[in-house]
Amino acid sequence: MNSQRREEIFEQAKIWVEEAGNIIEERINDELVIDTKTHANDLVTEMDKDIELFFANKIKEKYPTHLLLGEEGYGDDVQTLEGTIWIIDPIDGTKNFVHQKKNFAISVGIFHEGVGEIGFIYNVMADVLYSAKRNEGAYKNNVRMKPLNKEVNFEEAIFAFKHDLLCKSKDFDAELIEDFVNEIRGARYGGAAALEIAQVAEGIVDGYISKRLSPWDVAAGIVIMNEVGGIVNRSNSDSVNMLEKGTIVACNEVLSEKIFKYLKNWNRQEHSIKG
Ligand code: IPD
Ligand code: CA
Ligand code: CA
Repeated sequence: MNSQRREEIFEQAKIWVEEAGNIIEERINDELVIDTKTHANDLVTEMDKDIELFFANKIKEKYPTHLLLGEEGYGDDVQTLEGTIWIIDPIDGTKNFVHQKKNFAISVGIFHEGVGEIGFIYNVMADVLYSAKRNEGAYKNNVRMKPLNKEVNFEEAIFAFKHDLLCKSKDFDAELIEDFVNEIRGARYGGAAALEIAQVAEGIVDGYISKRLSPWDVAAGIVIMNEVGGIVNRSNSDSVNMLEKGTIVACNEVLSEKIFKYLKNWNRQEHSIKG
């Protein structure tokens, strides 16, 4: 995608992200209509659906050849990464949205021929917009984000993990992760993957590790992390295929060698971290 085209789509997408944020903000105190998906704690609200539909309609009207890969089913059946694909999570952190009315985000990543071109992560209630264009830097509101090149000692690092990595589960041995957590300064779980990756990009959290994330959880975060020189990979350090679900490791590059060494040990175990 040439830079003029990227600029034009960026400006349009930014307007829609802000409009979608306004819709959520205006309706934040309305009574919620909550449904469940795969299990009782897998929540979806009418707002998740309305916001995805908002983007689906806008994209179809303005960019009829573009495809939408979205969480709530209003997008296309995307089977390849050819062309321009909007990868959207209308509300990332639905449980935060339902329980806290904050700490959730709209996440929009735009990929062209498999390359991440544009990313937006909008923390709606805090009115903080992380954005990035390929090769043109990442911004937190209007302030350019610094490259992630400062030295961080592993022992002084703070990591965010999805909570199920910190519990016993049939997938892996939690004790291996306990060693990791004991070595670093602290662990966090924020409940909105996109925002947690944005915090890594901002340098206020040093890494984020989560199993089973979907393309819409990470697409925008990958574009933003690329612009600050951060790493977003699978647990075996492979790059992320935007059509697949899997484990995500987002971190400052200076920590990556040590992290992937740890993860290699986890992967070698019979009950290993998968993906
Ligand atoms: C979830 C959040 C959560 C992560 C889950 C995601 P949703 O997204 O990002 O932090 O742990 O794996 O599914 O369902 O709120 O869009
Ligand atoms: Ca999500
Ligand atoms: Ca969601």
